[in-house]
Amino acid sequence: MPEIQLLRPDHVPALLAFELENRAWFAASIPDRGDDYFARFDERLGGLLAEQEAGLCYFHVVVGAGGEVLGRINLVDVADGGADLGYRIAERAAGRGLATWAVGEICGLAANRYGLSALRAATTLDNAASQAVLARSGFTVVGETRLSGRPGLSYFRSLADVTARPGATGT
Ligand SMILES: CC(C)(COP(=O)(O)OP(=O)(O)OC[C@H]1O[C@@H](n2cnc3c(N)ncnc32)[C@H](O)[C@@H]1OP(=O)(O)O)[C@@H](O)C(=O)NCCC(=O)NCCS
Repeated sequence: MPEIQLLRPDHVPALLAFELENRAWFAASIPDRGDDYFARFDERLGGLLAEQEAGLCYFHVVVGAGGEVLGRINLVDVADGGADLGYRIAERAAGRGLATWAVGEICGLAANRYGLSALRAATTLDNAASQAVLARSGFTVVGETRLSGRPGLSYFRSLADVTARPGATGT
C-alpha cells in the first residue's frame, strides 16, 4: 500500500534517483527539468524545503511498500485558501490508478490538514492521462491556458465536499 509523505530532507537521495530514472518518461509529457536541475538538486531541494517551512508550498512523495519513491504530488503557490496542484508518477508505477488515488488523498490533506478550500491545476491538451486523472478527481475545466508554449486546459476543484479523512503519514 503506498503512502503519501510530506517531503523531508531524508527523502532527497531517493527523490533524485526517481527524477533521474524517469527523466525521459516525464520529458515525453512535460518539459524536461534541464541538466542544471540535476546538477544542483540538493541545493534546489533545500530551497523547496525552506518554502515549505514558510507555508508557501507543500511537497509530497508517494512512497511504495519498500520505501521507494513512486511519485510526487505537490501543492504550490499556496495563498488565499487555494493552491496549484502538480504530480508525476514513475513509469513503472503508471497506469494502475496511482495518480488518481494520490490526487484524492491530496484533496483530503489540502482541506483537512492545510486548511485549503480550492485547488487549481493545468495540463496540456495532449496529456490525456492527466486530463483523465483530473476529470475523475472532481476537477472541472475552467479555461484554456498555455504551458511552456503548448496549448492546455485550466482546472478548478472546490474542496467544500471533502470531509475529514485520515491524513497522510509523516509530519
Ligand atoms: C499523468 C500521470 C501522472 C498519470 O499517472 P497514473 O498513475 O498512470 O494515472 P492513473 O492510472 O490514475 O490514471 C490514468 C488514466 O489515464 C488513462 N490514460 C493513460 N494514457 C492515456 C492516453 N494516452 N489516452 C487516454 N487515456 C489515457 C489511463 O487509462 C487511466 O484511466 P483509466 O484508469 O480509466 O484507464 C503519469 O502518466 C505521469 O506522471 N506522466 C508524466 C508527468 C505528467 O504528465 N504529469 C502531469 C502533468 S499535468
